Amino acid sequence: MIFRTIFFLTLLSQVPAITGNIFSSIIPPLFGKKKSPPIETVFKLPSPLPVLPQGEGFATGTINLGGLEVSQVSTFSKIWATHEGGPDNLGVTFFEPLPILNGFFMLGCYAQPNKKALFGWVLAGKDGGTGALKMPVDYTLVWSSESSKIKQEGNGYIWLPVPPNGYKPVGYLVTNSPEKPPLDKIRCVCSDFTDDVEPELLIWEHDNVGNFNDISVKSLRPTNRGTQALGVSVGTFVALVNDSSSPLPISCLKNKEFNLSFMPNLSQIEGLIQAYAPLVYIHPDDLYLPSSVGWFFSNGARLYKKGNESNHVPIDPTGLNLPQGGSDDGSYWIDLPVDNGAKEKVKKGDLGGAGAYFHIKPMLGATFSDIAIWVFYPFNGPARAKVELVSVPLGRIGEHVGDWEHITLRISNFNGELWRVYFSQHSGGTWVDASEVEFQGGKNKVLAYASLHGHAFYSKPGLFLQGNNKIGIGIRDDAAKSEIVMDTGSRFAIVSAKYFKNEVISVPPWLNFYGKWGPKADYDIAMELEKIERVLPRNLKASFESAVNGLPNELLGEDGPTGPKAKDNWNGDER
Ligand SMILES: *[C@@H]1O[C@H](CO)[C@@H](O)[C@H](O)[C@H]1NC(C)=O
Ligand SMILES: *[C@@H]1O[C@H](CO)[C@@H](O)[C@H](O)[C@H]1NC(C)=O
Ligand SMILES: *[C@@H]1O[C@H](CO)[C@@H](O)[C@H](O)[C@H]1NC(C)=O
Ligand SMILES: *[C@@H]1O[C@H](CO)[C@@H](O)[C@H](O)[C@H]1NC(C)=O
Repeated sequence: MIFRTIFFLTLLSQVPAITGNIFSSIIPPLFGKKKSPPIETVFKLPSPLPVLPQGEGFATGTINLGGLEVSQVSTFSKIWATHEGGPDNLGVTFFEPLPILNGFFMLGCYAQPNKKALFGWVLAGKDGGTGALKMPVDYTLVWSSESSKIKQEGNGYIWLPVPPNGYKPVGYLVTNSPEKPPLDKIRCVCSDFTDDVEPELLIWEHDNVGNFNDISVKSLRPTNRGTQALGVSVGTFVALVNDSSSPLPISCLKNKEFNLSFMPNLSQIEGLIQAYAPLVYIHPDDLYLPSSVGWFFSNGARLYKKGNESNHVPIDPTGLNLPQGGSDDGSYWIDLPVDNGAKEKVKKGDLGGAGAYFHIKPMLGATFSDIAIWVFYPFNGPARAKVELVSVPLGRIGEHVGDWEHITLRISNFNGELWRVYFSQHSGGTWVDASEVEFQGGKNKVLAYASLHGHAFYSKPGLFLQGNNKIGIGIRDDAAKSEIVMDTGSRFAIVSAKYFKNEVISVPPWLNFYGKWGPKADYDIAMELEKIERVLPRNLKASFESAVNGLPNELLGEDGPTGPKAKDNWNGDER
């Protein structure tokens, strides 16, 4: 991180003022002097990157994809910006990666919406003597801003490299002059090293009213993602003109030999956990706190078998007597203790003894490490709805036993830097860039907020609605700062890192239990809803009904919850 800034400042002194620059206080912008420049600062984590044990392939700056070496470049020179269009009409700035390591070549430019700190990277490539890279044979001018009347700094030109036979472009070039760029400016990639790519997020769009040539610029991700998938993100964008979206004219990279030596080893993972492991703020009114799995089992949780419900049995603290492997066929499930006193005690959890469970997995062709951090709550409390301005308790709806929630840190295997954080929310969740998450006390520890009763994770405090936001109806997720904090890095267990070669992880038997961690709802949802509707003002009944009908089953708690390993994201990407 420190190096990034130094590089950048060195760079500033070398770049002629005519190209403009993101540090307007140093080099005044040529256009729009009164306006603040679109992107003023470079994002920096609060603390320097963790110092990790050096060695093997992790965090050494480059990764070998099996004959094509790549490096991650996050220093940029600004090429062109417009001050309008795209999400929130923020406009966009296009950058060229600079400087690039000796012997490496540009594979594409970078684009980012304005009004936020510069935060991103693109890969640059070096041919390992395998013919992995070749110059384009020509460029196609995909779009230029010449005929548009947008607020912009000069004109911008977006070029798609025309590859030689058997090669593919993995990024675009952007220039601020109409001349075709020199062919040796960028490299195309041999199709042995490329994979399919799909648009991820909208970066910018411009409707060139009536003139065609409408453009949308989107970020990209490999189409095939997961712990075994080979697709590697390049960090570049796709520029789609006239709504032509398929097939995309570019590709991403592929980790041909899937060499896992660039993944962190055990001591490096412990360093990453020390540096980034989230602090979880639990809602001050929440009665249902996390516990360790062992505490839940030793304090009276029971194992049930279908057809023999009256003969439920206690569970060994490590889960040794839980059925192992297979899939959930509904024949076994876990439930709270039967005795009322024990039941109420277990529902409240045991924050003092609770720890988080970590799963480390390769992602994006093993160029990133996903650290999934699982938190267990014995009980998920009842939900509340928001119907227009009224907050409506939903009786027992939403309640369930055995609540597994997770946060995932996505960390670069090039340099150990945190890129994104995934906050799970009911059956989905959200990725938030490291530049947009909260940190505390000058440390790189991520803050997360667990919502009242439902324990959905958010990156900031506030009221979040699951449902139809537009008409103001939905299930409430209330997240707030409080004195109740769980440091997921202070009492953690690494329960899975399948790629390890020499290090041994002790996998707790409960991890291989594929049955449900709680029974199916034992209350009648229709009846609960009727009770609630009876007390609602007449004019709210209809909108309440339509809101509840649109809720996913998972929120209504009809089906019992599954354990971490039974979820799609165990081997797949988050969604
Ligand atoms: C991880 O790799 C580093 C660097 O090679 C080494 O110092 C450390 O001992 C390794 N840790 C383990 C647990 O193997
Ligand atoms: C978009 O449509 C306009 C008008 O039909 C055409 O002139 C232009 O070449 C098209 N551009 C692309 C990239 O298809
Ligand atoms: C994996 O990469 C490392 C570091 O570049 C290298 O030493 C090792 O030989 C590679 N392994 C395979 C199987 O290619
Ligand atoms: C029911 O469970 C009890 C206690 O585990 C066991 O002894 C019995 O054989 C079971 N009966 C059936 C039909 O599975």
